Formats: sequence, C-alpha cells, structure tokens
Amino acid sequence: MKKILLLALSLSILWGHSLCKLADRCNDENCKIEDDCRCASTINPINDLDDPAPQLIALAFREAATSVFLDITSFLFDLRNPDGIQIGATFYPPFEYTDFSVVQTLYLQGFEIGVCSNCSRVPNVVNKLGGVKSAISYFANLPKEDIYGSTSSVFWNPNFTYDGLQSDGILYDSSWPLNEILPFTLDYLPTNVQIPVNKTYPHFWLVPTNQWSVKGYTCLSLLECFTGDSSEDIAASLVEQIDLVRNYNRAPIVLEISTSWFRINENALDGFLIFFEKMLEKKDVFFVSVGDIVQWIKNPVSVSKFKSSVYNRTGDCSNIMCNYTLPDGSLRYLRSCTDCP
Ligand SMILES: *[C@@H]1O[C@H](CO)[C@@H](O)[C@H](O)[C@H]1NC(C)=O
Ligand SMILES: *[C@@H]1O[C@H](CO)[C@@H](O)[C@H](O)[C@H]1NC(C)=O
Ligand SMILES: *[C@@H]1O[C@H](CO)[C@@H](O)[C@H](O)[C@H]1NC(C)=O
Ligand SMILES: *[C@@H]1O[C@H](CO)[C@@H](O)[C@H](O)[C@H]1NC(C)=O
Ligand SMILES: *[C@@H]1O[C@H](CO)[C@@H](O)[C@H](O)[C@H]1NC(C)=O
Repeated sequence: MKKILLLALSLSILWGHSLCKLADRCNDENCKIEDDCRCASTINPINDLDDPAPQLIALAFREAATSVFLDITSFLFDLRNPDGIQIGATFYPPFEYTDFSVVQTLYLQGFEIGVCSNCSRVPNVVNKLGGVKSAISYFANLPKEDIYGSTSSVFWNPNFTYDGLQSDGILYDSSWPLNEILPFTLDYLPTNVQIPVNKTYPHFWLVPTNQWSVKGYTCLSLLECFTGDSSEDIAASLVEQIDLVRNYNRAPIVLEISTSWFRINENALDGFLIFFEKMLEKKDVFFVSVGDIVQWIKNPVSVSKFKSSVYNRTGDCSNIMCNYTLPDGSLRYLRSCTDCP
C-alpha cells in the first residue's frame, strides 16, 4: 500500500513536472508570428517550390569604424541586389577607436548601424550619455530609433545577459552561430538549440549567425578559412557554403566579415566580388541588413514579392575632435559629428 502510494506520488510529481515543462515549451499554439513570437526551428514560413523564399544574406562587421575601415568597405556602396537596389549590411562598431563621422557616412549610405554590447571598454562619458546606443546616436548624430540591433562578444563573457537591451529599444541580437535555424524570439527557452541563455525575453529576437566550414573544418573567420587560395577558389567555396542553405531551407544567413581579411589576403576582395556576381546571377539571393532579416521573418514573403529596403537618410556632421579618458586613465581621441559632451 505504502509502495503504491509512493509510486503514485512520484508518478504525479513526474507527470506534473513534465506537464509544466510541456506548457513552457515553445510550439505553434502558444507562439505565433502575429504575436511577435517564433520558436527556434529550421522551418521556413515560405515553402513553395515554384516561388520560394528569397535567400537573404547579411554581412555583419564588428570592428571599429575608422577611415581605413571606410576605405576598405566602400566597395559595398557600388553593389546592387537583383532588384537594382543597393545592398544592405550591418555595422556594429565597438566604441573604442571608432570615428563617428565614418559611422554617419555608413548610415547615410543606407546601412544599418547596431550596438556592439560589451565589445570594448567604455569611458564614463558613455554612461553619462545613457549607454553605448545613446553615445553612438549622439556622436554620429543619427536618430536613436534607427539603432535597434545588437551583437555581443558573448564568447568571452560567461556572465552576459540580454538584460536592459529591450528597454533601450533594441529588438534583436545576432551573436550565436546556429546554422540553418531561422530567427526566433526568446518568449520560451529553446530546447532544440544550444544557447547559454536561461531567462526568457518576450518578443526579443535572436538572429543566428553562420559559421564557415571550409575544407572539412569549421573556421571562426574568413581570414582563418582561406590561406593561399586563389580568388576563384575563395568564390567557389563561398558559393558552396551559401548553396548548402539555399538548397535546404533558405534560412537567412548572417556572415560575420572583417576588414582584416581584405587587408591581409590579397585574393579576398577579388574572391568576394566573384562570389557576389555568382550570387546575383541566381536572382533569388539578396544582400540585406540583419534588421531587414528581422522585418522579413515578421512578415515573410516569397522571392517574387521581395523588395530590398531603401533607406533615404539625411544628416549633418561637424567633424569635431573630442577626447576622453578610459577607466585606466588612458587618453583617447574621437571624431564626433556633434559638439563634445
Ligand atoms: C562573472 O561573474 C562572477 C560572479 O559575479 C565574477 O566573479 C566573474 O569575474 C565574472 N566574469 C566576467 C568575465 O565578468
Ligand atoms: C555590458 O555593458 C553594460 C553597459 O554597457 C554593463 O551594464 C553590463 O554590466 C555589461 N555586462 C557584462 C556581462 O559585462
Ligand atoms: C543561469 O542561472 C543561474 C542561476 O540563476 C546562474 O547562476 C547562471 O550563471 C545562469 N547561466 C547562464 C548561462 O546564464
Ligand atoms: C529623400 O528624402 C528627401 C528629404 O526628406 C526628399 O526630398 C526626397 O524626395 C527623398 N527621396 C526619395 C527617393 O524618396
Ligand atoms: C581634450 O578636450 C578638451 C575640450 O573638450 C580640451 O580643452 C583639451 O585640451 C583636450 N585635451 C587634449 C589632451 O587634447
């Protein structure tokens, strides 16, 4: 009798426990795109063989925006999507060493500017201005509401959380490599993908990044992937990577790219441009910003209905040299579009 009671009790505990777990699990019933919710999955909302999803690709740069950086990346200004509109890309400049007149140039050119959270040391002046997002908006003289994305240097910071981002008007974070998973929200903790987050953030989007896998091994950066390859080989390898996704589920792709690749590998730019031409020929591949990917997943359309975003922007930059001191006392200069704070 005692045994049966015990069994019943433990069963009910197990049952109750698993019910609770089930209730907390993301599914199509409790998480709908109309409610700004999406579970982590490989399912593309557009599933029509005759008119499939566009293959979206976002190039993401996470390095200080300097004049050298602008020289190297300005080739992007001339690239067009199949609909004739300039490509998108996202720049997440860490605070330290960034020239904010360059940030404004990139912004006016139509590119997305995002926040690189905890990517560099921040001086007191940043906190005084209300955080990194406000500081970018201040120094680059661009509207705060146009900064709504973030990337994090999560790999080296085990204590990282998404706390405070939503209240600062950040809609998404794009940091974790999860190939072939479409963007999802943190309304529920995902059980099918590995991310070190143990707190839910309703309606906060995660846009997975993609990892390169070249010649059978995973590499963290393009610089590491391609050493000694010809530009044709680089292009072929990049096409192959994209086609793995394009021929499977067309999950949007976020490619982290850095100017050191273009500086150090003499075939990198040529290889990239050949790759770009090959993608353009396919007519269903569009280079967009990470923010555009979020807009697409919220309102998914097939390739025949897809249009690249046009951002018509204006702004002034008075190009003033300011200085600040870091917590360790070292002095830094920065080029600002507005008066020094
Ligand atoms: C993480 O948090 C723990 C406890 O608060 C602290 O001891 C540790 O230094 C932190 N690590 C980093 C990298 O910030
Ligand atoms: C990240 O930076 C913010 C300020 O920008 C700070 O409040 C927060 O503690 C930092 N988080 C970690 C994990 O370092
Ligand atoms: C998960 O939560 C526990 C306790 O709240 C905390 O100690 C731990 O650091 C968290 N882990 C991550 C990866 O956030
Ligand atoms: C861009 O904005 C300016 C000023 O707001 C306006 O005069 C111009 O017509 C716009 N151009 C396009 C292509 O929308
Ligand atoms: C730093 O800037 C202030 C004005 O904002 C100026 O008075 C000062 O001379 C500058 N310091 C250095 C070392 O350039």
